[in-house]
Amino acid sequence: MISNLNTQSLSLPRAPTQQPAEELQISKFILREKLGEGGYGLVLKAWDFDSKKYRAIKLLRQSHPKYEEGLQYFQNEVHPRVTSLNHPNIIKVIGYSKEPQDWVNLEGKMEKVMFIAMELAEKGCLFNWVNIMTMPEPEARYIMRSLLEAVSYMHSKGIVNRDLKMENVLITKDCRILICDYGYSREQIEEGRHCETKLGTELYMAPEILSHNNKYDGKAADIYNLGYILFMTIFRMYH
Ligand SMILES: Nc1ncnc2c1ncn2[C@@H]1O[C@H](COP(=O)(O)OP(=O)(O)O)[C@@H](O)[C@H]1O
Ligand SMILES: [Mg+2]
Repeated sequence: MISNLNTQSLSLPRAPTQQPAEELQISKFILREKLGEGGYGLVLKAWDFDSKKYRAIKLLRQSHPKYEEGLQYFQNEVHPRVTSLNHPNIIKVIGYSKEPQDWVNLEGKMEKVMFIAMELAEKGCLFNWVNIMTMPEPEARYIMRSLLEAVSYMHSKGIVNRDLKMENVLITKDCRILICDYGYSREQIEEGRHCETKLGTELYMAPEILSHNNKYDGKAADIYNLGYILFMTIFRMYH
């Protein structure tokens, strides 16, 4: 089990700390260091002074070149079909902005920002782990079991994720595995080829998504992604 790993001896790589010069605040959250960054979002650690807990805050900044596109994916992430998911291996959304908020950014400039607050995964993403260590088979099995349980639950609720990859698999302080990033998710109640938009991360994409003018089954495409994650986790092949 990954929880048996001697995590004391592992120092997980983190993006360089960007400690704000002054205390930056958004809503009830005081922003701390950077945790990661994806295609649209900047993710920061944040102190929630209501619940007195650390959270992760994903910011979609107006200054981001893909802000408009990101807004569309933001709506998917905060859609009730996603925020109502309740599974130990799926990230919990704690709150989000309904309107763009004024924010003094890390450079001290005022800008608009949308945010999603979620539970914090202190040990970062699987991609960073696989970068520094060969994952023994029992750990890989534990990770895959967690992912399969989460995906099976999510599919049973009629949701497909369409962006399962090592960067979107997180690990908490107590080594719980969490799927994050529902930006490309959509509803797919039935089995079968109901999706047509070519979405996801090319390296992970199922072949039927890449072939043009083809409808594909979002559920099958998610499972294909899990196979790819398993392969990369065990053989430590990453892009
Ligand atoms: N809840 C969290 N706890 C810790 N790190 C996180 C959390 N959410 C995201 N991250 C980090 O930020 C990165 C980008 O987050 P993600 O939601 O995937 O953004 P994007 O939608 O832009 O891809 C992740 O790969 C991960 O490293
Ligand atoms: Mg992502």
